[in-house]
Amino acid sequence: MILAIESSCDDSSLALMSEDYELLYYKKISQEQAHSEFGGVIPELASRLHTRTLPSLLEELKDVLPKIKAVAVTNAPGLSVSLITGLSVAKMLSVTLNIPLIEVNHLVGHIYSLFLDRKADFPLGILLVSGGHTMILEVDENRKLHLLAQTYDDSFGESFDKVAKMMALPYPGGIEIEKLALKGDKKRFNFTIPLLHDARAGFSFSGLKNQVRVELSKLENVSEQDKSDIAYAFQETAIAHIMNKLEKIFKVKNFKNFAAVGGASANLQLRSKLEELCEKYDSKLSLAPLEFCSDNAVMIARAGLEKYFAKDFISYENIELHPRVQLDGIKI
Ligand code: KG4
Ligand code: ZN
Repeated sequence: MILAIESSCDDSSLALMSEDYELLYYKKISQEQAHSEFGGVIPELASRLHTRTLPSLLEELKDVLPKIKAVAVTNAPGLSVSLITGLSVAKMLSVTLNIPLIEVNHLVGHIYSLFLDRKADFPLGILLVSGGHTMILEVDENRKLHLLAQTYDDSFGESFDKVAKMMALPYPGGIEIEKLALKGDKKRFNFTIPLLHDARAGFSFSGLKNQVRVELSKLENVSEQDKSDIAYAFQETAIAHIMNKLEKIFKVKNFKNFAAVGGASANLQLRSKLEELCEKYDSKLSLAPLEFCSDNAVMIARAGLEKYFAKDFISYENIELHPRVQLDGIKI
């Protein structure tokens, strides 16, 4: 089995996976509550909390550590002060247990959340929607990644977080907005879909966020119903923007298989719109299990296994953390 460590943002997570994709252990300690009062992740706080929680998780695995064949760790992209905590633990395990070290790209991990208990299947078109990224990708039959579009400013998930913060809702805002939207008046607000007539396939969410800000500023006291109505209109428009750009790409690319991954791919309204689009273009849609859309070490273990099979190891002297990375052209 291999051990995987994820600490790229505000979740400390460990997982053990066997060579035949059996999940033997998984735990995640989320810092959401700690960051909630600030309306977003405070890097310094995240780092400190990881240094407390990672050892406490490791303690649970004390007895099985001698049986571990390799350690996989997220080294990019993410908050440097968070990444470094998992990286340090992984390096030490590699040295003290004398086992190989595997570097895993967090976004590649999200892609492997589609194949947690089975062999991977490419080519595949992918919508990646997380707190830090919003991209349309294609993985070809040689497992090479091609970046087809990305956001020019905020990410999809981040825009939910920012709108939630404006309405004094807890962090992370995605699930809060989704819940409120269910009670929203469908007719009250009407936001403009970003870049609707722009020929490019890239995304922009900052203008939409500002439309919300303007509407909120017109209200004297923001009631629960106001919040729900805004949440509904915002979510509808953000998803319409995604679907509009995706459809542009579907028209030129003939995706036989398409998937959505990342924390925000847990949004049920987005999932249902993706189903409609894929049905229209005769594309088979795959989605990660809801539980594994958001950050977790299971997807890191699964991505790590691919590298383990390929003996793609790295020494503790050479592994680096990379807060930002280029995905275009890498093999996964
Ligand atoms: O992948 P993830 O767990 O962390 C990153 O790698 O960034 O994604 C977290 C993001 C947050 O911005 C969160 O608000 C958003 O995903 N998110 C959602 C939903 N659940 C999580 N956004 C919209 N609707 C949701 N249901
Ligand atoms: Zn993520």
